[in-house]
Amino acid sequence: MSKQFDVIVIGGGPGGYIAAIRASQLGFNVACIDEWKNSKGGSALGGTCTNIGCIPSKAMLQSSEYFDQASHHFVDHGIEVKGLSLDIAKMLGRKDAVVKQNNDGIVYLFKKNKVTFFHARASFVAARDGAYDIKVAGSVEETISGKHIIVATGSNARALPGTPFDEENILSNDGALRIGAVPQKLGVIGSGVIGLEMGSVWRRLGAEVTILEGLPTFLGAVDQQIAKEAHKAFTKQGLKIELGVKVGEIKNGKKGVSVAYVNARNEAQTLEVDKLIVSIGRTANTIGLNPEAVGLGLDERGAIVVDGECKTNLPNVWAVGDVVRGPMLAHKAEDEGVAVAERIAGQHGHVNFNTVPWVIYTSPEIAWVGQNEEQLKTAGHAYKAGTFPFMANGRARALGDTTGMVKMLADAATDEILGVHIVGPLASELIAECVMAMEFRASSEDIARICHAHPSLSEATKEAALAVEKRTLNF
Ligand code: NAI
Repeated sequence: MSKQFDVIVIGGGPGGYIAAIRASQLGFNVACIDEWKNSKGGSALGGTCTNIGCIPSKAMLQSSEYFDQASHHFVDHGIEVKGLSLDIAKMLGRKDAVVKQNNDGIVYLFKKNKVTFFHARASFVAARDGAYDIKVAGSVEETISGKHIIVATGSNARALPGTPFDEENILSNDGALRIGAVPQKLGVIGSGVIGLEMGSVWRRLGAEVTILEGLPTFLGAVDQQIAKEAHKAFTKQGLKIELGVKVGEIKNGKKGVSVAYVNARNEAQTLEVDKLIVSIGRTANTIGLNPEAVGLGLDERGAIVVDGECKTNLPNVWAVGDVVRGPMLAHKAEDEGVAVAERIAGQHGHVNFNTVPWVIYTSPEIAWVGQNEEQLKTAGHAYKAGTFPFMANGRARALGDTTGMVKMLADAATDEILGVHIVGPLASELIAECVMAMEFRASSEDIARICHAHPSLSEATKEAALAVEKRTLNF
């Protein structure tokens, strides 16, 4: 008889492994199946986020930021660095070690929470007796059975039509984190989150970086006052960003890559680079899952169709994270995973999409939550806005990083915070207070009346709240 589980989670990324742990905490007998292999063929739990996404990119962003600081900014502090050099192999090795710590951490968490882990590929076989048979193909092949299935199979990088990733010259987020020597010229297609983060890493390490973006607007989903400020800062740092381009033929040769494109002025151009990162979005991953075997519904883009509670068209089959609708963010996947485990247990798990924070880990960082000014205008929602620049913040001056601002938007009548948008130092951390405020439906006055430590960057958030009522104290 096949092994029986209450819950089988397919995929061990942030959506899957967190769902497995939460389900186990709630008393279920849980299995998690994940096929990711490390360079030695062993398991590598954590999915895209841990292996080729959030974690390694943050390691490389930190290393490259240190190099940039030592190269250009230490001198402002009276620190002179002579004979500065770069050991890329060591930097990449450190990044790999950080990834491994995270892989191992999840193995430990599975043991601690008694989650049964299969290093294998999972696929649907059949629905039988109120449960689902799942084929587990790893070093051995077996079929296991689960009452509830949570699909958390993530997403893959989208390639340009006719230009597959070779991860040598034409790179996805994976290859972009493994370039063995700093390219002299690096091209990036798509000025989204990955393009900006990876472009920043290799620019700081010395590459000449050109980003080609199809849309005429820079960071169209971001509050445009914040996006403009970020664009100004990136351009000053030396990132070349061309908007409104139409990418044509891409030739991948021995010496590098040539990209033909038409610029916003309708002029034919060619960009010659050593390496090209293509970061034009991601597509849901259901490769090998065999959804047809049970009739699991996919939409026209290949994503699993779910309702607001992550229920699929099949009873007791759930799906979370990048493989379903909504932002492709690790923390959204985690929260959906927790909510699904709680729903299986008869509880009322809930994810508030309006308070999912967004962060772009460039320098300056960009972070936001809730609605931006353009969205409020389009919706005809009457609002008040307050901004406060880091230039007027004592901690930012001491840090030597005064780029950017905090912008708060509040309802004109009730003063409820509708959105907060930050570009500046440690925006990724500052946004947490704003997410909490919005989750508790705080008003801008609430933030303005809360005591914030001095000197701290968080005072800029308090001042932005004061600015909503036009009563900043330090500007
Ligand atoms: P994205 O959706 O953020 O950006 C893609 C960009 O490419 C857009 O600006 C789009 O207009 C442009 N584009 C699309 N097709 C194009 C074409 N043919 N020519 C020129 N430009 C084109 O996607 P990205 O950067 O690939 O990231 C994928 C996902 O990973 C995103 O959903 C993102 O949220 C997630 N991610 C999140 C991170 C974070 O939270 N810090 C870090 C990295 C990725």
